[in-house]
Amino acid sequence: MTNTCAVILAAGEGKRMRSNKSKVLLEVQLKPMLGWVTDAIRKAGIENLCVVTGHRREQVEAYLENSCETVVQSERKGTGHAVMMAREFLERHHGGHVLICCGDAPFLDSETIADAFAQHLENEASATVISAVLDDPTGYGRLIRGNRGELQAIVEHKEATPEQLAIQEINSGAYWFEIDPLLEVLDSIKASSVTGEYYLPDAVKLLIGAGKTVGAFIAQSDDVVLGANDPSQLFELNRLARDKIIARHIANGVSMPCTDGIIISNDVVIGENVTILPGTILKGRTVIHDGCKIGPTSYIDGSEIGENCLISLSQVRESRILEGTDIGPFSDVRPGSVIGPNVHVGNYVEVKNSSVAAGTKIAHHTYIGDSDIGENVNFGCGCVTANYDGVNKNRCIIGDNAFIGSNVNLIAPVSVGEGAYVAAGSTITEDVPSDALSIARDKQTNKPGWAAEKRSKN
Ligand code: UD1
Ligand code: CA
Repeated sequence: MTNTCAVILAAGEGKRMRSNKSKVLLEVQLKPMLGWVTDAIRKAGIENLCVVTGHRREQVEAYLENSCETVVQSERKGTGHAVMMAREFLERHHGGHVLICCGDAPFLDSETIADAFAQHLENEASATVISAVLDDPTGYGRLIRGNRGELQAIVEHKEATPEQLAIQEINSGAYWFEIDPLLEVLDSIKASSVTGEYYLPDAVKLLIGAGKTVGAFIAQSDDVVLGANDPSQLFELNRLARDKIIARHIANGVSMPCTDGIIISNDVVIGENVTILPGTILKGRTVIHDGCKIGPTSYIDGSEIGENCLISLSQVRESRILEGTDIGPFSDVRPGSVIGPNVHVGNYVEVKNSSVAAGTKIAHHTYIGDSDIGENVNFGCGCVTANYDGVNKNRCIIGDNAFIGSNVNLIAPVSVGEGAYVAAGSTITEDVPSDALSIARDKQTNKPGWAAEKRSKN
């Protein structure tokens, strides 16, 4: 979309949420509401975003990580006042159009944004309000239309007459504005005599008064207006989003014999012939490729899972699992790991910030941290890479086809060469050459008869 930008209002306090987080960072299906909004805006093709922050702005700024501009509204004096804070941003985009929307209405989608913009351009409008017709319009601003259906004003619920309260067409809180006319009327918005706030909808009325064309775009789905003002409404948004996302994956052929406890974030991508079992949470920008079976009770965040992997009762975060790998039960893959293809990670295994190459087996009770493991390595039970010396994290390097016996400690930094054997129970502090056998433990002493003699003395 050329000549467009967006201003997202996100300064509000949301007292009724009873949360120590900024309201716009409260999550719907494990994704902050603000993230839903910024992603929909970008998906619609708008590149320049400005977020108006205020309440707990440091949290919002940290979340955005400089991905868009921010301006501060230090006092909450209403939506119109919030837009005044973005004047300099708007001036820089003069001659264009701005989408203004709320950071706490997560279901405003890219199609609605684009379709409303198309109508806005076609009508050569100075403002296009995105509206919806609700069975219960309580709390929302009402659209007042004249005899010919033309938009005349938006009246806030608190200020509406009984007849106006009966109107079911409401302001979603999202609008397209032509920037130049908006800038001309913005400072003329007067504070409400009822609340003392400067209302952005009053800009629409001022534009009408100045003889400009304004209109409304009625959204296809009522959901675009939904926001959360209290915890139970937030729960309702979660319920709606969950049903919608799960239905979408089921329609795509993802098999879920039962959806109990399954949460799939909106950005997760799932391939063909995938089975998801109960209790599984797929979060962030996770991708599950064809033929995987995930669950029961697994947690995958920000990770890519290659074709035909099995993950059972396990957790994978910010890592890549390559095709044909199986993990679990009860294993934990921590950030920065690349495992596979065709690796077997069994039960009670922790892998952190490590690479594990093709065909390697780590079957039981093992910790691999900050290490690079070659192909077809075999770990016995209870092996540990001692990667931390109390000050630094050090790496272990293990070559292809090495065999690491049970209960081996590898004190990093240390390497085991290709094809080497490390005897069970060894504590390895020196590099092991390729094809060698390394034994690092006390020689066994047997004392014949010792136990019998001890017993006879009791
Ligand atoms: C607003 C609209 C109303 C519309 C409704 C849709 C106004 C006056 N009314 O009402 O017509 O039907 O949204 O949900 O605009 N914000 C700031 N700074 C402020 C005040 C608000 O950044 O000083 C932000 C909030 O964080 C929120 C958004 O603006 O994201 C909307 O504010 P809110 O107070 O929820 O407006 P409503 O009363 O719901
Ligand atoms: Ca609101």
